[in-house]
Amino acid sequence: MIKKVAILTNGGDAPGLNAVIRAIVKVAERNNVECYGFIEGYKGLLENNYVKLDSNTNAAGLLHRGGTIIGASNSTNVFNLPVKEADGQVVYKDLSDNCVENLRNLGIDCLFTLGGDGTQKSARDLSLKGVHVIGVPKTIDNDVAHTDVTFGFNTAVEVATDALDRLHTTAASHHRIMVLEVMGRYAGWIALESAIAGGADVCLIPEIPYDMDKVIDKIKERQDMGKGFSIVVVSEGAKPLNGDIVVKRKLNDGQGVDNIRLGGIGDIVAKEIEERTGIATRNTTLGYVQRGGSPIPYDRVLSTKFGSKAMELALNGTFNVLVTYNNGKLSYATLEDVVGRNKKIGAASGSTAETNIRKVTPDDENLKVARSIGICFGD
Ligand code: F6P
Repeated sequence: MIKKVAILTNGGDAPGLNAVIRAIVKVAERNNVECYGFIEGYKGLLENNYVKLDSNTNAAGLLHRGGTIIGASNSTNVFNLPVKEADGQVVYKDLSDNCVENLRNLGIDCLFTLGGDGTQKSARDLSLKGVHVIGVPKTIDNDVAHTDVTFGFNTAVEVATDALDRLHTTAASHHRIMVLEVMGRYAGWIALESAIAGGADVCLIPEIPYDMDKVIDKIKERQDMGKGFSIVVVSEGAKPLNGDIVVKRKLNDGQGVDNIRLGGIGDIVAKEIEERTGIATRNTTLGYVQRGGSPIPYDRVLSTKFGSKAMELALNGTFNVLVTYNNGKLSYATLEDVVGRNKKIGAASGSTAETNIRKVTPDDENLKVARSIGICFGD
C-alpha cells in the first residue's frame, strides 16, 4: 500500500504539465495518498525543497494553466552536477545519494518524473538505486522513445500552424518566401506536422540533411507555375548535407544537461534562398511561444489520461516504467527500454544527443503523406 507520492517537473516546460499534476493529485486524494511536489525538478529533489499539493488550495484551477506550478529546471543532472570547488575549479559530482536520502526521509513511495528523455534517463538511474519511479512523457518535441505522443506536442503544432497561416497571407501579399524556424532539436515532428497542417512547400528536419539545390528547384518550380510565394518550415536542428547543426550558444563548454542552445538555421536558409533565387525572403523564428500558454483540449485530455494512468500504476505497484500512449491506448514501457538498454548510470544523462530519442523514420506515415502531396524535404 502506498501512502505518499511526489511529483517533479523537469526539463523545458510544456503545455499540459499542470494538467498532469492535477490528475495525479486528484487520483491520489481519492485513494487516501498524500502528494508532494519538488520545486524546480531534480534541483528541488536534491535540495529537499518541496510543497504538499492539495486540490483544494495550491493544486486547484490547473487544467488550463500553462507552465508548471512547481517550477522546472533543465540544468540539473544529479548524477553529474557541476560543483565549484574552493579553488574556483568546477568539478562534476554524483550527488544522487542525497536525492535518495531525501525521498527516504520524506517517506515517498513513488516519484513521478514528468519530463523528456534526459529526465527519464535520470529517473532510470534513480530506479537502479532502489527508488520507485514512474515517468510521464513530456516534451513539445515529441521525441520520447516508446510513445507515439508526448503531452505538449499538439499544442506546439497548433501554435506553429497558426504562425504558418499568418505567414501565408503576408507571403502572398508581398510575393515573398517566408521561412519559419520551429523547435525540434534532434527530431522534426513539429516541423513535419505543422508543414502538413500549414500548407508548407518545403520542410527541413534534422533526420533528413538537406541539399539546397533541391530546395531551390522546388521554389523555382512554384515560380514557373505562377505561384509568387513559398513557405518553408525549418526545425532548429536541421542541417545541410555534409554540414552541421547551428549552435547559437554553448554553456559550460556544452557539457552537462541541455547546455547547447540551438537556433539560427532559419536565418541561414532564408539568406541562401534569397541570394540564389533573387526573391525577397524573410525568416521568423517562433521560439518559446511554442512552449508557453494554455494546452489545447487534446493535450488537456492526454495529460489527464497520463496523470491518471501514472497514479493507477503506482497504486498497483508497477514501478520503473514510463506511461505511454500508442495506437490510441494507454500503456507503459520499462524505463530501461525508454532510455536504451544498459546505458551507464550518470553518463550522458540529460544530453539529448546521446539518449534514445524517437525520430522521424523514412516509413513514417506523415512523412510519406507530406511527400505524396509534393512537400520538399531537400532530398
Ligand atoms: O526540448 C524542448 C525544447 O523546446 C527544444 O526544442 C529546444 O531546443 C529547447 O527546448 C530549448 O530549451 P531551453 O532554451 O529552455 O534550454
